[in-house]
Amino acid sequence: MKKIIITIDGYSSCGKSTLARQLAGELDYLYIDSGAMYRAITLYFIQHRVDWTDHIQVKNALRDIQLEFVPNQITGRSDMYLNEENVELMIREMLVAEKVSEVAAIREVREFAVAQQQQMGKQKGIVMDGRDIGTVVFPHAELKIFMTADPAIRVERRFKELYEKNPNITIQEVKENLELRDYIDANREVSPLRKADDAIILDNSQLTMDEQLELVKQWVDDAVAVQTP
Ligand code: DC
Repeated sequence: MKKIIITIDGYSSCGKSTLARQLAGELDYLYIDSGAMYRAITLYFIQHRVDWTDHIQVKNALRDIQLEFVPNQITGRSDMYLNEENVELMIREMLVAEKVSEVAAIREVREFAVAQQQQMGKQKGIVMDGRDIGTVVFPHAELKIFMTADPAIRVERRFKELYEKNPNITIQEVKENLELRDYIDANREVSPLRKADDAIILDNSQLTMDEQLELVKQWVDDAVAVQTP
């Protein structure tokens, strides 16, 4: 069957990565979490005290950053490696979450990440999730999905996820972080989060995971069917 590119964009905590991972598993496609790349770059900047308001410092720092997704035999997922170190857990922490939208808004950072993302999609057979995947990274993708969900439901989901790792976290903190990230992501100058004109909207507020997957698998079949062999 002909392989396609599937892009999944949307606000924070809509369940993009869950859907993308499930789809990639079903289709035997590669799954790329583009947000992990922005998180790893942010972690590097924090660790190396890079002043990211200074373009020269950003450019120099990017030269020293090597990102790689490495399959983890135990979890069956890919872990984010930053300069050969597994940073998968560290990049999910609040310290990184609080700064990542600022870093992801920097032009040089985006150019650096987007070039690598486009390279990964050369062979097709990929599901990538993020904010600008259908608009900037793969504007010619065969299937584009734009995910949304009720903000209260998104806060609840993110809270549950973070609470497991850090029981000190409050729902208010999660809500504020989510609102701030959504605001910065949607209002930044370079590649703001927006729906591609040809993207299909998926509002999963009232859908179970199974219902969602079935619906999207139908969209995949439709998108594959219109490809010339
Ligand atoms: O999907 P996530 O929450 O892990 O993304 C982390 C941050 O990175 C988020 O605030 C927006 C940014 N991001 C982006 O600007 N472009 C992408 N393609 C993916 C993520």
